[in-house]
Amino acid sequence: MQRTVVLLKPDALQRGLVGEIIHRFERKGLKLVGLKMLKVSETLLEEHYAHHKDKPFFKSLKKFMSSSPIVCMLWEGLDAVKVARRIAGATSGREAELGSIRGDFSMSTSANIIHVSDSIDAAKEEEDRFFDRDEIFDWERVVAPYLYGEDEK
Ligand code: CMP
Repeated sequence: MQRTVVLLKPDALQRGLVGEIIHRFERKGLKLVGLKMLKVSETLLEEHYAHHKDKPFFKSLKKFMSSSPIVCMLWEGLDAVKVARRIAGATSGREAELGSIRGDFSMSTSANIIHVSDSIDAAKEEEDRFFDRDEIFDWERVVAPYLYGEDEK
């Protein structure tokens, strides 16, 4: 099973969307294996968004991400990275498909509610970046046989 990192940005917290967003991932069938709140440090942001450091929005992105705590989640499931990206929708809230989180709740490219790992490699890096080993829970879900077929385990 794959794992993927989901960050609920300050706008999700400020707008009271945390429960709604968790509900969407849960009801899809992904399994929550890590959850915590975090005030992101400058160092962590510099590392997490290193690939955007030359972009004109880098400074405002860092300011936005440190304006409130964020919620960090780790979700597990078959093809979890791809599934979470679809649940989140395209980067810009104005372009994102209706039915996705950004499509339903955002009008912005910067205040876009949620970050999800964009590849399997990024998901592994972000898991190590945001979670200590003892913050990840390996628990058995009793409804698993009703979420996946025999051939999908
Ligand atoms: P995220 O998925 O966290 O990855 C990088 C973030 O940079 C992105 O979501 C947006 O919040 C932000 N971002 C990407 N493109 C732009 C842009 N053109 N203008 C402002 N912010 C952007």
